[in-house]
Amino acid sequence: MKMNFKALAGLTMIAVTGFILGSCTSNPDSSGLEYMPDMYRSPAIEPYVDYGEVRGKEHMNMKMTLSAMTPPAGAIPYYGTDSATVSLMLPYFRKANIAFRETHGMYGADLTTTDEYTLAASDMNPYKVTAANSEEIFKKGKELYTAMCQHCHGEKGDGNGPMVISGAYAGVPNYMDRAAVSDGQMFYSIYYGKGAMGSHRSQLNKKEIWTLVHYVNRFQDPNYGKFDANGLAMAAPAAADTTAAAKK
Ligand code: HEC
Repeated sequence: MKMNFKALAGLTMIAVTGFILGSCTSNPDSSGLEYMPDMYRSPAIEPYVDYGEVRGKEHMNMKMTLSAMTPPAGAIPYYGTDSATVSLMLPYFRKANIAFRETHGMYGADLTTTDEYTLAASDMNPYKVTAANSEEIFKKGKELYTAMCQHCHGEKGDGNGPMVISGAYAGVPNYMDRAAVSDGQMFYSIYYGKGAMGSHRSQLNKKEIWTLVHYVNRFQDPNYGKFDANGLAMAAPAAADTTAAAKK
């Protein structure tokens, strides 16, 4: 019995030694046999890798998508090479009027006593609508409008959204009555809010707001942003032209 136990212990020793030695290799760069590789090297999630480019091949559906966390607040996305695209990513240069401090939750915002809303009248929509991009702009505009504005402003832009009809909210104008408001001022109002309308600057980027400005213009002129078979703008130039000066 005693002998058997010794033999068993001996055999176990040999097996264990064999097992340990078995993980050695003669290659000095090799770490040997890894029994549980995940414990040595955790599977890598690489937050800054552009997964759109795999072995020199571009996969557009994977490009520009976040592989990890959302960027810090205030981070400016920056890609593309044409100045129009890039300028839409830069911060809005107008400051919020100081009167908005309490009403629109502008804590931490750069406020000014100058009436920037009035100055915004001359700002032009940098995102021009053309025969080529018109369909895309108004499709995106409808999407955004339905999600963010329709409950107050109504599907037809007449100020009769479900919030207003339910009696929860009042004072939403019919866009037809705001036809004199320039593109720049519409942008300002959507960005910083106006009266009973809150600020949308945290929910929408500049390109989205300018898209909505086009969308609102169509409520005011059904031909706005439409082009005929020859590629000519159907709306009267004054309405189709996105410059504030032309709209006055
Ligand atoms: C909570 C309800 C509400 C929501 C949501 C809302 N609005 Fe308004 N909006 C108003 C009210 C109220 C006014 C009138 C403000 C005033 O002139 O005092 C207004 C005014 C406007 C004006 C006229 C601005 C001006 O300078 O006279 C525009 C343009 C506008 N809204 C667009 C939008 C768009 C686009 C959205 C979606 C991103 C939106 N609104 C979301 C309530 C809302």
